[in-house]
Amino acid sequence: MAADKIRVLIVDDIAETRENVRKLLQFESDIEVVGTARTGREGIQLSQEVNPDVVLMDINMPDIDGITATENIRSQSPHVQVVILSVQSDQNYMRRAMLAGARDFLTKPPLGDELISAIKRAGEMAHVEREKGAKQQMAMSAAAGMTGFGGYAPPVRGKIVLVYSPKGGTGCTTIAVNLAIALNNEDTRSVLVDGNLQFGDVAIFVNEQGKNTIVDIAPRVDDLDAEIADEILIKHEASGIRILAAPQRPEMAEKVSPDQFMKVLQFLQKIYSYVVVDTSPILTDVILSAFDISDVVVLVTTQEIPAIKNSRLILDLLNTMGVGKDRIIFAMNRYDKRIAITPERVGENLKHEITSAIPLDEKIAINAVNRGVPFMLDNKSQPIGRGIFSLAETVRARLIALENENESSAIKR
Ligand SMILES: Nc1ncnc2c1ncn2[C@@H]1O[C@H](COP(=O)(O)OP(=O)(O)O)[C@@H](O)[C@H]1O
Ligand SMILES: [Mg+2]
Repeated sequence: MAADKIRVLIVDDIAETRENVRKLLQFESDIEVVGTARTGREGIQLSQEVNPDVVLMDINMPDIDGITATENIRSQSPHVQVVILSVQSDQNYMRRAMLAGARDFLTKPPLGDELISAIKRAGEMAHVEREKGAKQQMAMSAAAGMTGFGGYAPPVRGKIVLVYSPKGGTGCTTIAVNLAIALNNEDTRSVLVDGNLQFGDVAIFVNEQGKNTIVDIAPRVDDLDAEIADEILIKHEASGIRILAAPQRPEMAEKVSPDQFMKVLQFLQKIYSYVVVDTSPILTDVILSAFDISDVVVLVTTQEIPAIKNSRLILDLLNTMGVGKDRIIFAMNRYDKRIAITPERVGENLKHEITSAIPLDEKIAINAVNRGVPFMLDNKSQPIGRGIFSLAETVRARLIALENENESSAIKR
């Protein structure tokens, strides 16, 4: 039965190694290669998508090395078993690999028998661990039920939607807050995370200041569960979304490391369908790491030249960082049709189509912030609210398209 096959993901930067390993495994009826990745980062991402039992992991790779990738994969999916395949027979590496949670260590090139029996051992362990995990997940759903989510079933892996603007004041926070509300419904819950750790103002936008913040959750990232999340996240009663606020004061920002921030997002993905992240224009390490693991980025510009100029720079940078074009949704906020710089022109100029335009409405937008009542609650049928709805639809559609694409490419690669 296909379901009982051991699902293997190969992570190695050398194409020849990937092919050789695949060939060694191709006649094993109970082993299936479900994907191959070329870097540690790709391995981490693909591991979330293809849900392997066993990962065959190289050590030396561009971007993220195999040991760090092992650690990351194991912390997200403890049932996944990692077998390190490396030219380094060095004891030092072996020790580090084991500490990172690797289950076995083979030197390259592996002998066929040796590799197959290592995969089988690891595969068995993965099945046992997966069952344990399923039980825990049920307990989590029960906890989610307790927290007033009714029959809400947590997603397999929620999506991270990062909202970013390279220029202050363009409406990044306004969009993040209202988008999180637009994406939230009974079947798809959203949580809004303030990634502007120094001067975050998400809590003010929803009039929930002075409560718990990310500083309360960061030190506990390694043993988070639904109960802790429930205790620390702010419940925004009026909209039903949950909020993870930024630290109360700027100097507290450094209490949250990029790794902790990433782990918090990855944890929230297990409970919420959408993890919407507000950011600051300053590219802190925290924000850069969030870019890496985000499913889509909503890039916000306006009709002003400085904002457009910075958008060009960030599009270039995202390209260099390996954030594909299809992961970026380019949106124009404060859109005023009397101004000659149209979304079409900006899109053409920057070679990235603007797919959403949210109209300028100072009265509604500013009133909303000052009252602490997001306009998606009381003005959603106004043009500004409809603009956010249409952005939310674009986000949903893009996530589905990306998912379909990944499913079909995971095997091909
Ligand atoms: N579509 C819009 N029309 C008019 N004003 C807006 C719009 N979007 C945001 N604003 C206003 O612009 C200001 C800056 O918004 P904010 O979301 O804080 O920007 P950022 O997070 O990018 O710094 C706020 O006063 C907000 O009310
Ligand atoms: Mg802001």
